[in-house]
Amino acid sequence: MLEQDIKEVLVTREEIQEAVNRLGEQLTKEYKDKEVVVVGILRGASIFMADIVRAMDVYLEIDFMDVSSYGDAFESSGEVKIIKDLDTHLEGRHVLVVEDIIDTGRTLKYLVDLFKYRKAASVQVCTLLDKPARRVVKDIIPDYVGLEVPDEFVVGYGLDFEQKYRNLPYIGVLKPEIYQ
Ligand code: XMP
Ligand code: MG
Repeated sequence: MLEQDIKEVLVTREEIQEAVNRLGEQLTKEYKDKEVVVVGILRGASIFMADIVRAMDVYLEIDFMDVSSYGDAFESSGEVKIIKDLDTHLEGRHVLVVEDIIDTGRTLKYLVDLFKYRKAASVQVCTLLDKPARRVVKDIIPDYVGLEVPDEFVVGYGLDFEQKYRNLPYIGVLKPEIYQ
């Protein structure tokens, strides 16, 4: 049913699984001696978050933050509004931000600056997807990247179009007639 709206599969289930395993090994090494608070950014990162924390064999806490970026459906403006804040006090804590995709980098810039302002001991960023061609904020360099994708609007594995397609088990591009 969902599949008929997809023009092209960009990242298969298997490729996602490989990326999760690879990142999980790296993050296990990174955080084996420092307890980390893993912060998932709702709602896009929810599916990736569930997989990545299970690929990390370390003591960790999880928390979620929901932010909305003013702008249209396809581009963030950098003006970020907090819809749900963290419940965890970050002072002195190691923070790993988990994102679905970095596009312009504006959302992440806001969050990394906020967590540093809250005196986190360290702030690192893990994103499933990176769209480097679209970067506007040049000093946002994700520490851990699953896969790079071209400059196309993608859905699936947490990523949506008008709140739908998040439950696709792979990453794909919609047929143009769906969003036109
Ligand atoms: P910025 O531009 O702030 O945006 O780096 C990051 C947020 O924008 C959304 N985004 C997408 N969502 N398919 C989506 O479903 C895409 O191709 C896409 N590109 C950006 C996403 O919410 C991300 O957190
Ligand atoms: Mg998002």
